[in-house]
Amino acid sequence: MGAIDLYARASADFDAKLGQTRQLLQDAHAKYAPLTQASSLGAEDVVITHLINSLALDIPIFVLETGKLHPQTLDLLERTRAASRAPVNVFRPVQHAVIEFVACEGSEPMYKSIELRKACCHIRKMEPLERALAGQRAWITGLRREQSGTRAYVPLIDTSDEAKTGRVKLNPLADWTWGDVWHYISQHKLDYNPLHDEFYPSIGCAPCTRAISLGEDFRAGRWWWEDEAAKECGLHVKETA
Ligand code: ADX
Ligand code: SF4
Repeated sequence: MGAIDLYARASADFDAKLGQTRQLLQDAHAKYAPLTQASSLGAEDVVITHLINSLALDIPIFVLETGKLHPQTLDLLERTRAASRAPVNVFRPVQHAVIEFVACEGSEPMYKSIELRKACCHIRKMEPLERALAGQRAWITGLRREQSGTRAYVPLIDTSDEAKTGRVKLNPLADWTWGDVWHYISQHKLDYNPLHDEFYPSIGCAPCTRAISLGEDFRAGRWWWEDEAAKECGLHVKETA
């Protein structure tokens, strides 16, 4: 049984939510320029990329290719680049920084301490993210409230960092359920990461992602050796002070 059979189930107000999402993307395209979609190639991001393309918005998409993604994710990246009307840009970490870090800390530093895990995320995700977002007025993510306790209040339009960065974050699927996401994928027969068929709801780098079992939390497969509160790589952590 695959992810579609397991999860696709529209909520009662799905059509209204979809209408709101389309409108948000169209308004954002008109209001914020330049803007870009951050895609991890997970189920949510596949839905957003499809919406951008079907609305012919030509919002460029970027993927942070950390050098630690699963082969299934890299394959989907290539298929997406071939199929997408909007450009798909890939950002990679600075090579010499990765080489030095691996030489000092080994190839699996993330399991040694939270500090080393965050240092790895910094080199492989945060620094490339800075380059991906440079000069952008807005970025679009696949964050959903249902994903975790720390994401329970994700707004559709997040202006909280705007004064500091000049940028807003748009979360057009904030109120979608996991069932809504898969309903959309099923209805539009979208290409998706086959890891979702193997009980990976949330997919990041290979050393830091595993399958979950029945009843486990959505993000239980990410950085599973760390405390709940620490389980963010920094992409969506609010800056303080
Ligand atoms: S993470 O912070 O734990 O890595 P998660 O995997 O839940 O994030 O993804 C949430 C959103 O962050 C995605 O929908 C996407 O918008 C963005 N994102 C996460 N990983 C990447 C990536 N490798 N490249 C681009 N965007 C990403
Ligand atoms: Fe490194 Fe894991 Fe962070 Fe990926 S998720 S950048 S492998 S620590």
